[in-house]
Amino acid sequence: MNAQTLLTQLYDTPETDILEQITNLKTELGDQVLILGHHYQREEVFAFADVSGDSLKLSQQAAETTAPYIIFCGVHFMAETADILTSDEQTVILPDLAAGCSMADMANDEQVERCWAELSEVINPELKVTPVTYINSTASLKSFCGEHGGIVCTSGNARKVLEWSWGNREKILFFPDQYLGENTAVAMGIPDEDMIVWDPFQPLGGNTAEAIEKARLILWKGFCSVHQFFKPEHVETMRQNHAGIEILAHPECSRAVCEVSDFIGSTEMIIKHVESAPSGSKFAIATELNLVNRLRIEFPDKPIWFLSPMICMCSTMFRTDPQHLLVALTSVREAIEHDQAVSNQIIVPHEQQRWGKLSLERMLNLV
Ligand code: 13P
Ligand code: SF4
Repeated sequence: MNAQTLLTQLYDTPETDILEQITNLKTELGDQVLILGHHYQREEVFAFADVSGDSLKLSQQAAETTAPYIIFCGVHFMAETADILTSDEQTVILPDLAAGCSMADMANDEQVERCWAELSEVINPELKVTPVTYINSTASLKSFCGEHGGIVCTSGNARKVLEWSWGNREKILFFPDQYLGENTAVAMGIPDEDMIVWDPFQPLGGNTAEAIEKARLILWKGFCSVHQFFKPEHVETMRQNHAGIEILAHPECSRAVCEVSDFIGSTEMIIKHVESAPSGSKFAIATELNLVNRLRIEFPDKPIWFLSPMICMCSTMFRTDPQHLLVALTSVREAIEHDQAVSNQIIVPHEQQRWGKLSLERMLNLV
């Protein structure tokens, strides 16, 4: 049966049956398959992850695993990263190919190449600019960074990566997330006059040649639509309503939110922070809803609020449901039994693998 037909059939199957089939198939496949799950995955899928983590931990895990099949319950750029970091004999599967990332879509090859060319009219970027891409980007942009002396970063290691980058060249071009770059730089004490924003839809990114010459950090005008729902006024309301509450924010939140938060960190760092706090500690958390809800259940002795009164959910992370996971596992079993290709395999073209791997390895060697 082809994957699409099976999927359609599974939407008519009771969820308890699906969960049972996943459990059985996972046991049957054993070490042949590794399921990686990002913290933003919905609970019914997250429960089946062999390893869960933030983008950094999951990329480290992908680089280390010897499992022949890796099912990545996350979004497209994560599966691409895993494919770059695994061997040619290993197969990476994204259960729903439509699980993308709107932030990653905010910088494409053409725009970044044009930016580099426009920078060349003012300075020599090959000598003066380290390109840094957030891991939330396409494989081809990771490849661009590798080829131009640059590096990848995640929300868990951005500071170390910026230090490394400034150690090599005087300027950084940081894409696609303006806020991760800006919030990290602010925490490092970089003054505003050293930063400019690059709007890919404007000539010279909307800057003068003088401003480019002067800048040390060029921030791409991109953002995560989920994290932009958190506002500084939500922080104020929480503090008014709950004395002693600690505000934890993901660095994809706006600078205005991060500046008034008590702690800024990746999803893994937020979890560790809550874990290590004494019982009775109160938190309001500015990151995706599925993770915040999970923390509430795991730590009933530590009252936790979602920072925004609105629901901030990553709709593409949510695309991976138990039905898609079961189809992926079934496809692995059929591939093994009949020596055939799996469905939804993520394959990064060979020429992007080489340079993409270099930019990822530069990052992994720093942490
Ligand atoms: P981390 O899990 O690395 O903190 O990233 C959050 C995110 O937005 C993933 O897309
Ligand atoms: Fe992309 Fe934001 Fe979703 Fe993360 S939460 S995958 S950055 S859209």
